[in-house]
Amino acid sequence: LRAGFLGRIAEAGDEAQLEAARLAALGKKGEVALRMRELGKMTPEQRAEAGPALNALKDELLAALTARKASLADAALAERLRTEWLDVTLSPRTLGPGVGQGSVHPVSQVTDEVIAIFGDMGFGVQEGPQIEDDWHNFDALNIPPEHPSRTEMDTFYMARLDGDDRRPNVLRTHTSPVQIRGMLEHGAPCRFICPGRVYRCDYDQTHTPMFHQVEGLAIDRDITMANLKWVLEEFCRRFFEVEGVELRFRASHFPFTEPSAEVDIRCSWAGGVLRIGEGDDWLEILGSGMIHPHVLRSGGIDPEVWQGFAFGMGIDRIAMLKYGMPDLRAFFEGDLRWLRHYGFSA
Ligand code: PHE
Repeated sequence: LRAGFLGRIAEAGDEAQLEAARLAALGKKGEVALRMRELGKMTPEQRAEAGPALNALKDELLAALTARKASLADAALAERLRTEWLDVTLSPRTLGPGVGQGSVHPVSQVTDEVIAIFGDMGFGVQEGPQIEDDWHNFDALNIPPEHPSRTEMDTFYMARLDGDDRRPNVLRTHTSPVQIRGMLEHGAPCRFICPGRVYRCDYDQTHTPMFHQVEGLAIDRDITMANLKWVLEEFCRRFFEVEGVELRFRASHFPFTEPSAEVDIRCSWAGGVLRIGEGDDWLEILGSGMIHPHVLRSGGIDPEVWQGFAFGMGIDRIAMLKYGMPDLRAFFEGDLRWLRHYGFSA
């Protein structure tokens, strides 16, 4: 029995044969199990001899199985190493047209367009963290702890460990905290935009919990609302590629700007098709204003000497308007058909 099984194990040429040998020997209905069952019918003396012998046999077969399994695995690996190889000097296979080619996501495309247009007007690019402390996201922007806009903004708060009673960090609810970081870094005068991801707890056809904004600001000794108007009109003319683009500045309120204005763009919805620059409808595209003196001070800039404008708009939103995409949620679902349809070639 012992020699037979040990032979079978040693000769097993692959995993399947080895498993068959294991079942035949040690399986529930295997030889060893059968013998074990016979122990019950033996006299105590016979059992005292056969029991330990069977257990020893079982251990020996198990050890042989394990060893054989390892050597089969080694052999398989050696075989793979021998047969599978890669010629890294080979030139890459080119793909057929449209096959397996990725595309540039509309958000990336529009962000690049925005950076290029403002770049031509002398604006640099400033970045900041997406996990923000509440000083940068709120206090520095003249939003005190009890201010209603903290809840209006549907803020996502990061959990703190038990016993850590510092105020929780937040997922930034807008790109405005990057204003503060930019001011502290560059001082005045300065001019930059801050594109990036922002987070609010909101979900419907035009809202997703993560979306993109671009902030912009210019600080100098004699910046006025007139500069703001020109910069935004010039941006819209170029971005929407409409010469006669028309903007409407509506008085509004933000804690971080004074005065504040929301800006609408003239458009028409005739026949369910959106056309920018014509018609009698207005669509809100951004918030803006003159930077509040408290905010300049948070950024280490003396409001007695310097003033500036700031604006913030949704990147996804202007992408939807320019390229006629009806549902914001589709931006972030990663559906390849959508990406092929709306994506840009690299
Ligand atoms: N932070 C504002 C928002 O998220 C937009 C804004 C930016 C308004 C800068 C004015 C100035 O809605």
